[in-house]
Amino acid sequence: MPGKANGVGVQVEDTKICVVMVGLPARGKSYIAQIAQRYLQWLSIPAQTFNVGNYRRNDAPHPTADFFDFNNAEGERKRRAAAEAAVADMLRWFRSGGVVGILDATNSTKDRRKWVHEICDANGVEVLFVESVCDQEDVIMANILDVKTSSPDYKDQDPEEAANDFRRRISQYEKVYKTIDGDGDEGDYTYLKIMNIGKQVIINRIQDYLQSRIVYYLMNLHIRPRSVWLSRHGESLYNLDGRIGGDTMLSPRGELYAKKLPELVRESDDRSLTVWTSTLKRTIATARWLPAHYNQLQWKALDELDSGVCDGLTYQEIKDSYPDDFVARDDDKYNYRYPAGESYRDVVIRLEPIIMELERSEDILIVTHQAVLRCIYAYFMKKDQAKSPWMNVPLHTLIKLTPRAYGTEEIRYEANIPAVSTWRGKGSTAKHEAPTGDTM
Ligand code: ATP
Ligand code: F6P
Repeated sequence: MPGKANGVGVQVEDTKICVVMVGLPARGKSYIAQIAQRYLQWLSIPAQTFNVGNYRRNDAPHPTADFFDFNNAEGERKRRAAAEAAVADMLRWFRSGGVVGILDATNSTKDRRKWVHEICDANGVEVLFVESVCDQEDVIMANILDVKTSSPDYKDQDPEEAANDFRRRISQYEKVYKTIDGDGDEGDYTYLKIMNIGKQVIINRIQDYLQSRIVYYLMNLHIRPRSVWLSRHGESLYNLDGRIGGDTMLSPRGELYAKKLPELVRESDDRSLTVWTSTLKRTIATARWLPAHYNQLQWKALDELDSGVCDGLTYQEIKDSYPDDFVARDDDKYNYRYPAGESYRDVVIRLEPIIMELERSEDILIVTHQAVLRCIYAYFMKKDQAKSPWMNVPLHTLIKLTPRAYGTEEIRYEANIPAVSTWRGKGSTAKHEAPTGDTM
């Protein structure tokens, strides 16, 4: 098939890793699990979280703290059954092609960890323990108020009572909790221990490439409040012509957007930002009126998807000169690679360092291009790969994304400066087409 990109990215065929979360309640385990799952899925690595709490809720939907007392035989039995059901489902999922399964539970005793390790071992699954240790009272209290009082465990309950009960739940766990390798007899395990949200990390016996990538990613996470702003460049001369790629300057309306961008940013927040652009003229020109005290950085990785032999052509010209490619791209837009150019999948792979740096950083404004913006947006908003290349990302619009505990909040700021549409529906060769249907 023309320009089809197969097997690009990470070679993970024979790898199966179970990431086993460890830690007392309200230490961010579920947060870490879901963010790791999002990152891996974005990289096309089959990843799935198995949350033992969800299994336990089938049997004990609204338990009080006493349920978690380790001397409560009934509670123990139900919790054990929930863990067994989660692990059984996870193993089934591995057999059907899963690569990274994340077992989200406290796994707070040595016995429980040994049990998980043995089962995984017997099934050819590597184990990576990821423990979150946190003794900052303010962080723990904020976590309880932020996510625990609204948990289904406390449905319709007074938040203050729920918070008190949750504190008692933590005390029950504290009676038996052992930090991993705290007694020096778990040194054979592969583990990452994150202390006080990354102030200190301990890494032990990391074995292979995929494990080290997961570890590196998790080491870069922080939870300080921050936002990521995304904007396309202002309308360009090629946009006016309906041509793809190139390195043209802004149109007069694109210039107006560049002049308006500082005001849009101020409207969205008064914080000082760092600005990242691509190395192409149109993004640099769009960012040039932003305040001089904003740090600016150009990234080659933010350049637009390379359309290879089709660079500079209109869609009609591509259809005329490369009819098979035109059809192949519409059939599988995410994987299709332009001859001598790139696919969306390639762009995601080259954006990985950008995502890594974004996770480490605080407030960043990214001025980039349609395809690249779609890929970054898909990461934060968990968009499906088959759909994300078809998303409508209008020109002259600033998008502010704010990551929260379980999901990312989005606000859009329109400049109200007209621009052509560069969105294109399947099969179309129109130069400028109004977006239709589900384009987000
Ligand atoms: P439980 O055992 O009850 O399921 P949990 O450990 O899974 O609890 P989460 O539900 O993930 O806890 O808690 C979410 C909160 O943890 C979020 O508010 C998030 O900001 C915060 N958080 C994220 N990472 C960390 C971390 N490394 N240490 C402490 N808190 C964190
Ligand atoms: O206490 C928090 C929690 O997520 C419960 O909802 C869940 O039942 C439990 O942890 C799972 O962990 P464990 O296997 O240690 O009981």
